[in-house]
Amino acid sequence: MKLINLFDYEQAAQSKMRASFFGYYAGGAGDEITLRENRTVFDSIKLRPRVLIDVSHRTLETTILGHPTALPVVIAPMALAKLAHRKGEVAIATAAKKAGIIHCLSTLSSTSLETVASVGAANWFQLYIYKERGITTRLIERAAAAGYKALVLTVDTAVVGVRENLLRTGFRPPRGVKAENFTEFYGAKAALRLPAQFSPIDFDSSLTWDDLKWLIANSSLPVLVKGVLRGDDAKRAIDCGVAGIIVSNHGGRQLDTAVAGIKALPEVVAAVGAQTEVLVDGGIRRGTDIVKALALGARAVLVGRPVLWGLAVSAQKGVEQIFDVLKRELDIAMALCGCSSVGEIGPDLITE
Ligand code: GLV
Repeated sequence: MKLINLFDYEQAAQSKMRASFFGYYAGGAGDEITLRENRTVFDSIKLRPRVLIDVSHRTLETTILGHPTALPVVIAPMALAKLAHRKGEVAIATAAKKAGIIHCLSTLSSTSLETVASVGAANWFQLYIYKERGITTRLIERAAAAGYKALVLTVDTAVVGVRENLLRTGFRPPRGVKAENFTEFYGAKAALRLPAQFSPIDFDSSLTWDDLKWLIANSSLPVLVKGVLRGDDAKRAIDCGVAGIIVSNHGGRQLDTAVAGIKALPEVVAAVGAQTEVLVDGGIRRGTDIVKALALGARAVLVGRPVLWGLAVSAQKGVEQIFDVLKRELDIAMALCGCSSVGEIGPDLITE
Protein backbone atom coordinates (compact mmCIF):
# COMPACT_ATOMS: atom_id res chain seq x y z
CA MET A 1 0.00 0.00 0.00
CA LYS A 2 1.23 3.48 -0.80
CA LEU A 3 1.45 5.52 2.41
CA ILE A 4 0.12 8.96 1.66
CA ASN A 5 -1.61 10.25 4.76
CA LEU A 6 -1.44 9.57 8.50
CA PHE A 7 -4.39 7.18 8.37
CA ASP A 8 -2.42 5.03 5.91
CA TYR A 9 0.44 4.88 8.39
CA GLU A 10 -1.97 3.78 11.11
CA GLN A 11 -3.21 0.91 8.97
CA ALA A 12 0.30 -0.11 8.01
CA ALA A 13 1.41 -0.01 11.66
CA GLN A 14 -1.54 -2.15 12.66
CA SER A 15 -0.58 -4.83 10.20
CA LYS A 16 3.01 -4.82 11.51
CA MET A 17 2.40 -4.71 15.25
CA ARG A 18 1.28 -7.30 17.76
CA ALA A 19 -2.46 -6.70 18.28
CA SER A 20 -2.21 -6.03 22.01
CA PHE A 21 0.60 -3.47 21.53
CA PHE A 22 -1.27 -1.70 18.76
CA GLY A 23 -4.38 -1.79 20.95
CA TYR A 24 -2.51 -0.22 23.87
CA TYR A 25 -1.56 2.75 21.70
CA ALA A 26 -4.71 3.05 19.62
CA GLY A 27 -7.31 2.48 22.32
CA GLY A 28 -9.13 4.92 24.53
CA ALA A 29 -11.10 4.81 27.76
CA GLY A 30 -14.55 3.33 28.29
CA ASP A 31 -16.72 3.39 25.18
CA GLU A 32 -14.10 5.49 23.36
CA ILE A 33 -16.59 8.28 22.79
CA THR A 34 -14.00 10.95 23.53
CA LEU A 35 -11.46 9.15 21.37
CA ARG A 36 -13.83 9.34 18.38
CA GLU A 37 -15.01 12.85 19.24
CA ASN A 38 -11.40 14.07 19.06
CA ARG A 39 -11.61 13.34 15.33
CA THR A 40 -15.21 14.17 14.53
CA VAL A 41 -15.02 17.67 16.01
CA PHE A 42 -12.15 18.51 13.66
CA ASP A 43 -14.16 17.20 10.72
CA SER A 44 -17.16 19.33 11.68
CA ILE A 45 -15.24 22.62 11.86
CA LYS A 46 -15.33 24.33 8.48
CA LEU A 47 -12.83 26.77 7.00
CA ARG A 48 -13.49 30.16 5.40
CA PRO A 49 -10.50 30.59 3.10
CA ARG A 50 -9.26 34.02 2.06
CA VAL A 51 -8.60 34.32 -1.67
CA LEU A 52 -6.46 36.41 -4.01
CA ILE A 53 -3.59 36.80 -1.59
CA ASP A 54 0.01 36.38 -2.66
CA VAL A 55 1.09 33.15 -0.95
CA SER A 56 4.05 32.42 -3.19
CA HIS A 57 6.50 32.65 -0.25
CA ARG A 58 5.43 30.61 2.72
CA THR A 59 6.97 29.62 6.02
CA LEU A 60 5.68 27.24 8.67
CA GLU A 61 8.28 28.30 11.22
CA THR A 62 7.29 29.71 14.56
CA THR A 63 8.35 29.67 18.21
CA ILE A 64 6.86 27.82 21.15
CA LEU A 65 7.72 29.26 24.57
CA GLY A 66 10.55 31.01 22.80
CA HIS A 67 11.94 27.83 21.18
CA PRO A 68 12.18 27.96 17.41
CA THR A 69 10.37 25.18 15.57
CA ALA A 70 10.07 24.25 11.89
CA LEU A 71 6.33 23.88 12.22
CA PRO A 72 3.74 24.40 14.97
CA VAL A 73 3.83 20.76 16.03
CA VAL A 74 5.27 19.16 19.17
CA ILE A 75 5.61 15.41 19.62
CA ALA A 76 3.21 14.39 22.38
CA PRO A 77 4.47 12.28 25.27
CA MET A 78 3.71 8.59 24.73
CA ALA A 79 4.68 5.66 26.90
CA LEU A 80 6.90 2.75 25.83
CA ALA A 81 7.79 3.58 22.24
CA LYS A 82 9.73 0.33 21.99
CA LEU A 83 6.41 -1.46 21.63
CA ALA A 84 6.32 0.03 18.13
CA HIS A 85 9.96 -0.51 17.21
CA ARG A 86 13.05 -1.59 19.13
CA LYS A 87 14.73 1.75 18.34
CA GLY A 88 11.94 3.45 20.28
CA GLU A 89 12.38 6.96 21.66
CA VAL A 90 15.89 7.40 20.24
CA ALA A 91 14.50 7.06 16.71
CA ILE A 92 11.73 9.55 17.52
CA ALA A 93 14.12 12.09 19.05
CA THR A 94 16.55 11.75 16.15
CA ALA A 95 13.74 12.36 13.66
CA ALA A 96 12.56 15.36 15.73
CA LYS A 97 16.06 16.83 15.73
CA LYS A 98 16.35 16.39 11.98
CA ALA A 99 12.94 17.96 11.40
CA GLY A 100 13.62 20.82 13.83
CA ILE A 101 10.67 20.18 16.10
CA ILE A 102 10.25 19.80 19.85
CA HIS A 103 9.97 16.33 21.34
CA CYS A 104 8.13 15.86 24.62
CA LEU A 105 9.41 12.65 26.18
CA SER A 106 7.04 10.58 28.29
CA THR A 107 8.02 9.83 31.84
CA LEU A 108 7.05 6.23 31.00
CA SER A 109 9.52 6.05 28.13
CA SER A 110 11.20 2.74 27.34
CA THR A 111 14.56 4.53 26.97
CA SER A 112 16.09 6.54 29.80
CA LEU A 113 15.68 10.30 29.64
CA GLU A 114 19.47 10.67 29.61
CA THR A 115 19.91 8.41 26.58
CA VAL A 116 17.17 10.30 24.72
CA ALA A 117 18.80 13.63 25.66
CA SER A 118 22.11 12.48 24.20
CA VAL A 119 20.51 12.62 20.73
CA GLY A 120 20.45 16.41 21.08
CA ALA A 121 16.88 17.21 20.05
CA ALA A 122 14.96 20.05 21.72
CA ASN A 123 13.29 18.01 24.45
CA TRP A 124 10.62 18.62 27.03
CA PHE A 125 10.03 16.09 29.79
CA GLN A 126 6.55 14.99 30.80
CA LEU A 127 5.94 13.86 34.34
CA TYR A 128 3.37 13.09 36.97
CA ILE A 129 3.63 13.75 40.67
CA TYR A 130 4.08 10.52 42.57
CA LYS A 131 3.13 9.48 46.05
CA GLU A 132 6.82 9.29 46.81
CA ARG A 133 7.83 12.91 46.33
CA GLY A 134 11.49 11.90 46.22
CA ILE A 135 10.86 10.22 42.86
CA THR A 136 9.40 13.40 41.43
CA THR A 137 12.22 15.62 42.66
CA ARG A 138 14.82 13.18 41.40
CA LEU A 139 13.22 13.09 37.92
CA ILE A 140 13.10 16.89 37.84
CA GLU A 141 16.79 17.04 38.74
CA ARG A 142 17.68 14.45 36.13
CA ALA A 143 15.69 16.22 33.40
CA ALA A 144 17.34 19.57 34.18
CA ALA A 145 20.81 18.00 34.31
CA ALA A 146 20.23 16.27 30.97
CA GLY A 147 19.32 19.56 29.27
CA TYR A 148 15.54 19.28 28.92
CA LYS A 149 14.01 22.68 28.20
CA ALA A 150 10.67 22.37 30.00
CA LEU A 151 8.62 20.11 32.21
CA VAL A 152 5.10 19.07 31.25
CA LEU A 153 2.98 18.05 34.21
CA THR A 154 0.06 15.83 33.23
CA VAL A 155 -2.88 16.74 35.46
CA ASP A 156 -5.66 14.54 34.07
CA THR A 157 -4.46 11.31 35.63
CA ALA A 158 -5.50 11.35 39.29
CA VAL A 159 -6.20 7.69 38.57
CA VAL A 160 -5.76 5.73 35.36
CA GLY A 161 -8.79 5.70 33.04
CA VAL A 162 -10.80 2.57 32.31
CA ARG A 163 -8.77 0.96 29.54
CA GLU A 164 -10.94 -1.99 28.65
CA ASN A 165 -8.87 -3.10 25.71
CA LEU A 166 -5.88 -3.72 28.00
CA LEU A 167 -8.01 -6.07 30.01
CA ARG A 168 -9.41 -7.81 26.94
CA THR A 169 -6.08 -8.31 25.19
CA GLY A 170 -4.14 -9.02 28.38
CA PHE A 171 -1.62 -6.34 27.36
CA ARG A 172 1.80 -6.90 28.89
CA PRO A 173 5.01 -5.28 27.70
CA PRO A 174 7.49 -7.86 26.49
CA ARG A 175 10.63 -8.70 28.42
CA GLY A 176 13.12 -5.89 28.03
CA VAL A 177 10.57 -3.14 27.46
CA LYS A 178 10.17 -1.27 30.70
CA ALA A 179 9.84 2.22 32.10
CA GLU A 180 13.58 2.89 32.05
CA ASN A 181 13.40 6.14 34.02
CA PHE A 182 12.25 4.09 36.98
CA THR A 183 14.88 1.35 37.02
CA GLU A 184 16.82 3.62 39.40
CA PHE A 185 13.96 3.31 41.90
CA TYR A 186 12.52 -0.12 41.17
CA GLY A 187 15.21 -2.05 39.29
CA ALA A 188 13.77 -4.93 37.29
CA LYS A 189 10.37 -4.23 38.84
CA ALA A 190 10.06 -1.17 36.60
CA ALA A 191 8.94 -3.76 34.07
CA LEU A 192 7.00 -6.09 36.27
CA ARG A 193 4.74 -3.41 37.64
CA LEU A 194 3.66 -2.15 34.26
CA PRO A 195 0.66 -4.25 33.16
CA ALA A 196 -3.06 -3.54 33.62
CA GLN A 197 -2.68 -0.12 35.20
CA PHE A 198 0.41 0.51 33.04
CA SER A 199 2.26 2.41 35.67
CA PRO A 200 5.28 1.29 37.63
CA ILE A 201 4.66 4.01 40.16
CA ASP A 202 1.85 5.22 42.30
CA PHE A 203 0.32 8.42 41.05
CA ASP A 204 -0.69 10.74 43.85
CA SER A 205 -4.48 11.02 43.67
CA SER A 206 -4.51 13.66 46.40
CA LEU A 207 -2.85 16.29 44.19
CA THR A 208 -4.11 19.86 44.34
CA TRP A 209 -3.11 23.26 43.01
CA ASP A 210 -0.70 23.57 45.94
CA ASP A 211 1.23 20.63 44.54
CA LEU A 212 1.50 22.39 41.20
CA LYS A 213 2.94 25.38 43.08
CA TRP A 214 5.32 22.99 44.84
CA LEU A 215 6.49 21.60 41.51
CA ILE A 216 7.06 25.04 40.05
CA ALA A 217 8.99 26.13 43.15
CA ASN A 218 11.15 23.01 42.93
CA SER A 219 11.95 23.20 39.24
CA SER A 220 14.54 25.32 37.52
CA LEU A 221 12.71 24.60 34.24
CA PRO A 222 9.50 26.21 33.02
CA VAL A 223 6.45 24.05 33.74
CA LEU A 224 3.51 23.50 31.39
CA VAL A 225 0.35 21.75 32.54
CA LYS A 226 -1.22 19.20 30.23
CA GLY A 227 -4.79 18.04 30.58
CA VAL A 228 -6.68 21.26 31.21
CA LEU A 229 -10.16 21.46 29.61
CA ARG A 230 -11.67 24.53 31.31
CA GLY A 231 -11.01 28.24 31.35
CA ASP A 232 -11.22 28.50 35.15
CA ASP A 233 -8.64 25.74 35.61
CA ALA A 234 -6.36 27.41 33.09
CA LYS A 235 -6.61 30.65 35.11
CA ARG A 236 -5.71 28.84 38.31
CA ALA A 237 -2.74 27.26 36.59
CA ILE A 238 -1.55 30.70 35.49
CA ASP A 239 -1.97 31.98 39.04
CA CYS A 240 0.29 29.12 40.17
CA GLY A 241 2.97 30.30 37.73
CA VAL A 242 2.86 27.85 34.82
CA ALA A 243 4.66 28.77 31.60
CA GLY A 244 2.06 27.29 29.27
CA ILE A 245 -1.18 25.32 29.04
CA ILE A 246 -1.84 22.18 27.02
CA VAL A 247 -5.53 21.63 26.40
CA SER A 248 -5.91 17.86 26.25
CA ASN A 249 -8.07 14.90 27.19
CA HIS A 250 -5.06 12.55 27.08
CA GLY A 251 -5.94 11.21 23.66
CA GLY A 252 -9.32 9.99 24.92
CA ARG A 253 -7.54 7.61 27.30
CA GLN A 254 -8.68 9.03 30.63
CA LEU A 255 -12.24 10.33 31.22
CA ASP A 256 -14.54 9.00 28.56
CA THR A 257 -17.11 11.52 27.27
CA ALA A 258 -14.77 14.37 28.30
CA VAL A 259 -14.93 17.28 25.86
CA ALA A 260 -12.56 17.27 22.87
CA GLY A 261 -9.53 19.51 23.31
CA ILE A 262 -10.32 21.47 20.17
CA LYS A 263 -13.80 22.21 21.56
CA ALA A 264 -12.44 23.32 24.93
CA LEU A 265 -9.70 25.43 23.32
CA PRO A 266 -11.68 28.67 22.72
CA GLU A 267 -12.77 28.82 26.38
CA VAL A 268 -9.19 28.34 27.57
CA VAL A 269 -7.81 30.87 25.10
CA ALA A 270 -10.45 33.39 26.16
CA ALA A 271 -9.46 32.89 29.80
CA VAL A 272 -5.65 32.96 29.54
CA GLY A 273 -4.61 33.42 25.92
CA ALA A 274 -3.44 36.97 26.55
CA GLN A 275 -1.11 35.79 29.33
CA THR A 276 0.36 32.58 28.04
CA GLU A 277 0.79 30.21 25.12
CA VAL A 278 -1.93 27.60 24.79
CA LEU A 279 -1.33 24.31 22.97
CA VAL A 280 -3.87 21.65 22.11
CA ASP A 281 -3.84 17.96 21.26
CA GLY A 282 -6.24 15.14 20.46
CA GLY A 283 -7.13 13.87 17.00
CA ILE A 284 -4.81 16.03 14.89
CA ARG A 285 -4.26 14.06 11.69
CA ARG A 286 -4.38 16.62 8.87
CA GLY A 287 -2.75 19.90 7.95
CA THR A 288 -6.21 21.46 7.99
CA ASP A 289 -6.59 20.32 11.64
CA ILE A 290 -3.49 22.33 12.52
CA VAL A 291 -4.90 25.39 10.74
CA LYS A 292 -8.15 25.00 12.71
CA ALA A 293 -6.32 24.69 16.04
CA LEU A 294 -4.22 27.79 15.34
CA ALA A 295 -7.26 29.70 14.10
CA LEU A 296 -8.95 28.94 17.42
CA GLY A 297 -6.01 30.38 19.32
CA ALA A 298 -3.51 27.56 19.82
CA ARG A 299 0.16 28.41 19.52
CA ALA A 300 0.87 24.86 18.36
CA VAL A 301 -0.52 21.35 18.47
CA LEU A 302 0.80 18.09 19.88
CA VAL A 303 0.69 14.99 17.72
CA GLY A 304 0.97 11.60 19.38
CA ARG A 305 -0.15 8.28 17.94
CA PRO A 306 0.82 9.02 14.29
CA VAL A 307 4.44 9.32 15.42
CA LEU A 308 4.24 5.80 16.81
CA TRP A 309 2.67 4.58 13.56
CA GLY A 310 5.59 6.04 11.61
CA LEU A 311 8.00 4.46 14.07
CA ALA A 312 6.36 1.05 13.69
CA VAL A 313 6.42 1.29 9.89
CA SER A 314 10.09 2.19 9.47
CA ALA A 315 11.76 3.49 12.60
CA GLN A 316 13.37 6.95 12.35
CA LYS A 317 12.60 7.20 8.63
CA GLY A 318 8.94 6.48 9.28
CA VAL A 319 8.77 9.21 11.92
CA GLU A 320 10.41 11.66 9.52
CA GLN A 321 7.80 10.75 6.93
CA ILE A 322 5.03 11.60 9.40
CA PHE A 323 6.49 15.09 9.84
CA ASP A 324 6.85 15.41 6.06
CA VAL A 325 3.17 14.56 5.56
CA LEU A 326 2.08 17.08 8.19
CA LYS A 327 4.40 19.71 6.76
CA ARG A 328 3.16 19.21 3.21
CA GLU A 329 -0.49 19.21 4.24
CA LEU A 330 -0.11 22.26 6.49
CA ASP A 331 1.71 24.15 3.78
CA ILE A 332 -1.04 23.44 1.24
CA ALA A 333 -3.84 24.22 3.74
CA MET A 334 -2.22 27.55 4.62
CA ALA A 335 -1.72 28.50 0.99
CA LEU A 336 -5.34 27.67 0.19
CA CYS A 337 -6.49 29.71 3.20
CA GLY A 338 -4.46 32.71 2.01
CA CYS A 339 -1.80 32.50 4.73
CA SER A 340 1.93 32.85 4.12
CA SER A 341 2.92 32.36 7.74
CA VAL A 342 1.37 30.80 10.82
CA GLY A 343 0.96 34.26 12.36
CA GLU A 344 -1.61 35.03 9.66
CA ILE A 345 -3.88 32.20 10.74
CA GLY A 346 -6.74 33.82 12.64
CA PRO A 347 -10.26 33.18 13.92
CA ASP A 348 -11.83 34.63 10.76
CA LEU A 349 -10.81 31.40 8.97
CA ILE A 350 -13.35 29.38 10.95
CA THR A 351 -17.09 29.00 10.55
CA GLU A 352 -19.32 26.66 12.53
C1 GLV B 1 -0.03 6.88 29.40
O1 GLV B 1 -0.02 8.03 29.79
C2 GLV B 1 -1.12 6.28 28.71
O2 GLV B 1 -2.08 7.02 28.42
O3 GLV B 1 -1.09 5.08 28.44
